Amino acid sequence: MKVYSRKEDIAKTISHLKADDFTVGMVPTMGALHQGHLQLVKRALNENDKVVVSVFVNPTQFDNEEDLVKYPRTLENDVELLKTVSKTDIIVYAPTVNDIYEGKTVSQSFDFDGLEFEMEGKFRTGHFDGVGTIVKRFFDIVKPHKAYFGEKDFQQLTIIKKLVEKHNIPVKIVGCKIHRETNGLAMSSRNTRLKPKYKAAAPFIYKTLKIAKEKFGTKSASKVSEWVEKQFANHGLLKLEYFLIADTETLKPIKRKSNKKTYRAFIAVYADDIRLIDNIALN
Ligand code: PAF
Repeated sequence: MKVYSRKEDIAKTISHLKADDFTVGMVPTMGALHQGHLQLVKRALNENDKVVVSVFVNPTQFDNEEDLVKYPRTLENDVELLKTVSKTDIIVYAPTVNDIYEGKTVSQSFDFDGLEFEMEGKFRTGHFDGVGTIVKRFFDIVKPHKAYFGEKDFQQLTIIKKLVEKHNIPVKIVGCKIHRETNGLAMSSRNTRLKPKYKAAAPFIYKTLKIAKEKFGTKSASKVSEWVEKQFANHGLLKLEYFLIADTETLKPIKRKSNKKTYRAFIAVYADDIRLIDNIALN
């Protein structure tokens, strides 16, 4: 399996592949790969001849220095894991910070039509500028036909669709279902940092989302939110940062239910110092 670190080298390889009529998919990741990532890679391999998996902990999307420093970096394991999926059709792109940012580790500033100010945008200053910067950079370098992102980061997925639309980037963005542990916990690279008692407590997040979905069938969004807030207020280990029900397209909090719209419930929770997010489709 080839592992590229220089943008010139990967760009050259991809342009040769495309000249030979191979289709190219891309799965951007920050590494510490888990089964959730592998599902994205498998889907990408089903729909493309070759798949580029980028492994890059992007500094500009972290608003918390400690989180950036502690983010797991496991490139060798990641490559071994990818080999279990395909030894021939996956290309790993693991650039250095300098190769990407060329001495200026700063984000470009984006206008995502307000999507960036909802939910995560309220709690993680500059996060989506950082994500937009790196994803646009990857698309410029790799020029994939399709790129795959998980619905766990639903706001990120929506923003990347907006990025591609507003900047006329010729790539199809494919959203993929959330991959969960058997206990319901959404898979995330951050889960590896959970201490055992928090790991045991964390499935409560999805359990609560499922009940919230059921309640949303008969109750107002504010009643459902009140109920969720109460569940976490009574929880000894998990601290709720936000729960809200939002329009799937605009990501704006619901005002009044309409059966012409689709909604999702979004949640962010602290388990000790680890921040976990999740979401569920409501209708
Ligand atoms: O979802 C992630 O892992 C990251 O935000 C992404 C899309 C790879 C950009 O760094």
